[in-house]
Amino acid sequence: MSARLPELVEEALATGTLAGLPDKHFINGRSVSSSSGRAMDTFDPGSGRPFAHVAAGGAEDVEAAVAAAKAALATTWRQTTPAERGRFLYRAASLVREHADRLAVAECLDCGKPLGEAKGDVAGTARAFEYYAGACDKLQGETIPLGQDYLAYTLNEPVGVTAHITPWNFPISTLGRSVAPALAAGCTVVAKPAEQTPLTALMLADLLSEAGLPEGVFNVVTGTGPEAGAPLVAHRDVRHVTFTGSVATGTLVMQAAARNITRVTLELGGKSPVIVLSDSDMEQALAGVLGAIYENAGQICSAGSRLVIERAIHDKFLEELTRRTKELTLGHGLRDPNVGPVNSQAQLDKIVDYVEGAKARGIRVATGGARAADPQTGAGWFFEPTILDNVAADDVVIQEEIFGPVLAVQTIESIDEAIERANGTPFGLVAGIYTQDITKALRLARDIDAGQIYINEYFAGGIEVPFGGNKKSGFGREKGLEALRSYCKIKSVAAKI
Ligand code: NAI
Ligand code: MG
Repeated sequence: MSARLPELVEEALATGTLAGLPDKHFINGRSVSSSSGRAMDTFDPGSGRPFAHVAAGGAEDVEAAVAAAKAALATTWRQTTPAERGRFLYRAASLVREHADRLAVAECLDCGKPLGEAKGDVAGTARAFEYYAGACDKLQGETIPLGQDYLAYTLNEPVGVTAHITPWNFPISTLGRSVAPALAAGCTVVAKPAEQTPLTALMLADLLSEAGLPEGVFNVVTGTGPEAGAPLVAHRDVRHVTFTGSVATGTLVMQAAARNITRVTLELGGKSPVIVLSDSDMEQALAGVLGAIYENAGQICSAGSRLVIERAIHDKFLEELTRRTKELTLGHGLRDPNVGPVNSQAQLDKIVDYVEGAKARGIRVATGGARAADPQTGAGWFFEPTILDNVAADDVVIQEEIFGPVLAVQTIESIDEAIERANGTPFGLVAGIYTQDITKALRLARDIDAGQIYINEYFAGGIEVPFGGNKKSGFGREKGLEALRSYCKIKSVAAKI
């Protein structure tokens, strides 16, 4: 019987780590060290200390993983029926649920997020496998009428070997939501998790192997972006890259993929607005705005990092929002506070720079605005939940992604101004709308350029709903049946009878 959540949390708090964490690549069904023999530390953001190490991979390890994925595609995985693939994925979903506690504690240590959020991410990962398990045997093609002397039909063929480059903010769920549809479509996988959070990808590899996935179908190479990510996206045998991360790295990924005409799905940054109109349900809007910016300490591509609020309710709403923000608890993720640490020293420094810059420009800090620490230990990479009030539309804290617990407030006079503000950044990922007026809500939903709109509940929806961005937030869609299609290539067959 594996350890339960309270014992795992106790072990992690007492020892600073968990026994038996994976520390090698997972290639061709086996755990293997880096060909260079090198390893790298991974840190606990709640303490700021290294607590585990993994293999530091490079081009040779990537070569081995892609070769294994290519061989598995041609042999075992191509031979499985869609129903069999579905059964593998259902078993994967069950195993993720069975091992949810250990996965959540590992995620909490590696990433920093509050335990409750980590549990939610793991549950979401199981759900992604379950959702796509049911879709494997429903990937039907079409027949195309050309008259009785012809038979024309389409087939959904798997694109081939797929690469999945994931960031550090939602390590297991971002990986799960992209590998589940890839496997369902009949593709094989090489994953390269972020160097800050490599552990749950390796744990998932073990579980998929336990689910009976044939060797080589799912591979994980750990390492840095330049050393392990770059050779993977540039590999000629990789036929699709799903990348989630920064715009700068997304640009490099697209350039590298272009050389081999490799398909890409790019899930990049955001600066998403939460629009609160004066007729909104205040309680609903307050809860929505708080969750949109402080969940995962604001390190979410789809965070609601801009509050766009009607002047008539600005003062009253801000007063209550500030009061609730001050009440949020900070602490090590394992103690399940309201807000955990940010993921790295580098990310903390970036947040500090943005907020210090805002202060220097005379922007009013309604609350927060400074570095913080775990109140129990005085350690860790924390930043206070922060609100910057009445920010001008062209200010950098409106135009650029901060990726921290920092909300920037914009005041508006009309629906037209709300639309202008909402669309007034280089990004177009999501938008939240709070109003009781259905006409206003639907007009805003129509006119805002974003991949997903939430009305009266920020983050509404799950794996069933397509997700992705417009403009510099990227292109391609994850989740939903849309994601499944991106791992298929259509073949048309036309026969003269
Ligand atoms: P990043 O985009 O550099 O890293 C994301 C992933 O890409 C990691 O797995 C990394 O190893 C990999 N990578 C880096 N360089 C690569 C290359 N040349 N080829 C292939 N893969 C490569 O993001 P980073 O530096 O961790 O964070 C910087 C900023 O990016 C954050 O402050 C935040 O604003 C944004 N970001 C956005 C995310 C999102 O969900 N859209 C997630 C993480 C970061
Ligand atoms: Mg870490």
